[in-house]
Amino acid sequence: MMSIKMSQKKIFLVLLVICTVSFLLHNGGHFNWSMEAFHLRCSTLRSQITPGLKPKHTNIVFLKTHKTASTTMQNMLFRFAERNNLTMALPKPNCGHQFCYPQLFSSHFVHPHTLPPNMITSHMRFNKTALQRLMPNDTIYITILREPASMFESLFTYYSRHSGSFRRVPNGSLEAFLADPLRYYRPEEADSMYARNTLTFDLGGNKDRTATDVTYAQAFVAEVEKVFSLVMISEYFDESLVLLSHLLSWDLDDIVYVKLNMRTESSKKSLSPSLPAKIRTWNSIDAYLYDYFNASLWVKLSALGLDCVAKEVYLLRLAQERLTKSCFGGQMPVPRSASEIRNKDLRPWQPSEKVGIIGYDLPLNISHEAKELCLKYIMPEITYTQKLLHSQLLRHRQSFQNRTPQKSNIPQQSIRTTPPRHSQVHRTQPPPSNAQGSASTTKSKFTLNQGTGTSKSGPKSSNTSVL
Ligand SMILES: *[C@@H]1O[C@H](CO)[C@@H](O)[C@H](O)[C@H]1NC(C)=O
Ligand SMILES: *[C@@H]1O[C@H](CO)[C@@H](O)[C@H](O)[C@H]1NC(C)=O
Ligand SMILES: *[C@@H]1O[C@H](CO)[C@@H](O)[C@H](O)[C@H]1NC(C)=O
Ligand SMILES: *[C@@H]1O[C@H](CO)[C@@H](O)[C@H](O)[C@H]1NC(C)=O
Ligand SMILES: *[C@@H]1O[C@H](CO)[C@@H](O)[C@H](O)[C@H]1NC(C)=O
Ligand SMILES: *[C@@H]1O[C@H](CO)[C@@H](O)[C@H](O)[C@H]1NC(C)=O
Ligand SMILES: *[C@@H]1O[C@H](CO)[C@@H](O)[C@H](O)[C@H]1NC(C)=O
Repeated sequence: MMSIKMSQKKIFLVLLVICTVSFLLHNGGHFNWSMEAFHLRCSTLRSQITPGLKPKHTNIVFLKTHKTASTTMQNMLFRFAERNNLTMALPKPNCGHQFCYPQLFSSHFVHPHTLPPNMITSHMRFNKTALQRLMPNDTIYITILREPASMFESLFTYYSRHSGSFRRVPNGSLEAFLADPLRYYRPEEADSMYARNTLTFDLGGNKDRTATDVTYAQAFVAEVEKVFSLVMISEYFDESLVLLSHLLSWDLDDIVYVKLNMRTESSKKSLSPSLPAKIRTWNSIDAYLYDYFNASLWVKLSALGLDCVAKEVYLLRLAQERLTKSCFGGQMPVPRSASEIRNKDLRPWQPSEKVGIIGYDLPLNISHEAKELCLKYIMPEITYTQKLLHSQLLRHRQSFQNRTPQKSNIPQQSIRTTPPRHSQVHRTQPPPSNAQGSASTTKSKFTLNQGTGTSKSGPKSSNTSVL
């Protein structure tokens, strides 16, 4: 018995050595990265272990808040919806590219040819009742918050020309505004929501409760927590994405992104030491929300295991680096101001001449296949919304045409297309068009397998995550 066991052990060891050697030989240039990835695998990282075990969740409300990295999230969801032929509810033309914000959301704001939806993510003011009626009943609700001081500085600069409360401030001085906010702020004015408790307002709450009204803030937080399964935090964006991918059973490739809608460095201001406290007092409900959900984010991260989270963040950054290199000719992309971007579709919206919003251009010599893919990662919000609406309208028309001629002899039910069996994506509703198989992974494989030589430069910052 003993000897049999021993020889089994030996055979196993010999096999292990052979495997390791051939692994090393085959991965020469990638040795460092491969070995690291090998050790860094979390038992829970879906794509690395057993793809396709649990279907990806596809019914999602992402409440897009202002100035919180939510544009990057929206871009990610748009891409996911496109890859998987999902229906994204989009605004009617007379609502612009938002759902008639700042009005409270109503299903009347949704373009009828983008119904019934799997996802919804364009700017809106949250109305739970209306959304619950519109969306499938297994919809997961997600949103994102940002630290109030840096957020307010960003709002103040971005909306300096749009919000009356900010326009009235002498010299456009944030210090002057915070010295006496009530002198400039008019709660009933259009665009006043950019000047106080913007997060609370976007979430459907009352932005004008006073700083001392802690009961309101507590009740509001409880309500938000009941509806939203995940409240992401901009300061810990990658960590939040790890939680998101676990919550939705999404792959690493599904959460790779390029940062969008950032300001040029010159239009950012650093805050003098006394300002953050003043900003928090002025935006006290937002501050309460933020502290609460930042704490609960870290509770969730700890539950997953901080080591595990750090490893997945590291893998995400590696994947991201490879993507950007493969899209931008082997280097990291150079952020450009709008006027420097050749492709007009890639120019982000500029709120005023004082604020530069950064965008990207693609190299001229990029291959057609790569261009198709890479464009989507850097496409500004308004351009992408229009493109997505266009493709969904086409699909809607096609499915309508496919249905009508057969009406006479085939019962309605059998004409409905069922989701492809081998697709990893789980739907609760029939897809609106003839979905024919899972193309969802072929494209994204390209993003992760392209590019070489990332191993040497290593991760951008494996230690930046605050653990
Ligand atoms: C929210 O939506 C529901 C359902 O559409 C509607 O009845 C309600 O009036 C809305 N709430 C507000 C405050 O507009
Ligand atoms: C969701 O709706 C379907 C029918 O539309 C129903 O059969 C199912 O029980 C509902 N699920 C939940 C969790 O309410
Ligand atoms: C605005 O700027 C001008 C010139 O920089 C200065 O003289 C003036 O005092 C400023 N006003 C306020 C209210 O800060
Ligand atoms: C978020 O919460 C963590 C854990 O409690 C804390 O260490 C960190 O300072 C908080 N971040 C901010 C920006 O408040
Ligand atoms: C495109 O041009 C850049 C230099 O301008 C070069 O580094 C890169 O390899 C080229 N890419 C392709 C796909 O030819
Ligand atoms: C999406 O639809 C297109 C065109 O109808 C089809 O070719 C593709 O295979 C579908 N992809 C998925 C993931 O269902
Ligand atoms: C492996 O990568 C790390 C950083 O990720 C680097 O410090 C180290 O020198 C690399 N080792 C080799 C053998 O390339």
